[in-house]
Amino acid sequence: QCSLLLCFGLAVDVRQTPAEVFTHPRNSLVQLFCNHDKTDFYLMLWYQQTPGRTDMKLIGYLHHNEPTMEKEHKDDFDISGALSGSTAKNGSLMIKKAEQNSSAVYFCAASKAQ
Ligand SMILES: *[C@@H]1O[C@H](CO)[C@@H](O)[C@H](O)[C@H]1NC(C)=O
Ligand SMILES: *[C@@H]1O[C@H](CO)[C@@H](O)[C@H](O)[C@H]1NC(C)=O
Repeated sequence: QCSLLLCFGLAVDVRQTPAEVFTHPRNSLVQLFCNHDKTDFYLMLWYQQTPGRTDMKLIGYLHHNEPTMEKEHKDDFDISGALSGSTAKNGSLMIKKAEQNSSAVYFCAASKAQ
């Protein structure tokens, strides 16, 4: 279903935008957003599912305003957002240098606590 360079998996109750991103290799930055209305969910996790695989790899997560990246993804991604406070949540995953091998489905997940 997803044959684009980058695209999202859609999860119930969590909105990810844009749904699909086409980018030319070497076109540098791609930023994906994830937002939801669960005001007491202070954790947002980002996963990557690469083509031909069914498992998802954790890229990193945001806890309140604090990002934690998996070591192997540190150079290629940034996670940011402000999850503190009792407001709707909006976080983002930045693909710092989109390349052919960035082609994947990116999932975000929201959770109450760690
Ligand atoms: C999330 O934040 C980004 C960047 O600050 C903004 O462009 C986007 O509109 C926000 N989305 C929502 C649903 O607030
Ligand atoms: C993706 O490709 C770039 C350039 O060819 C390379 O430097 C990088 O290590 C590759 N990343 C992975 C995860 O294979």
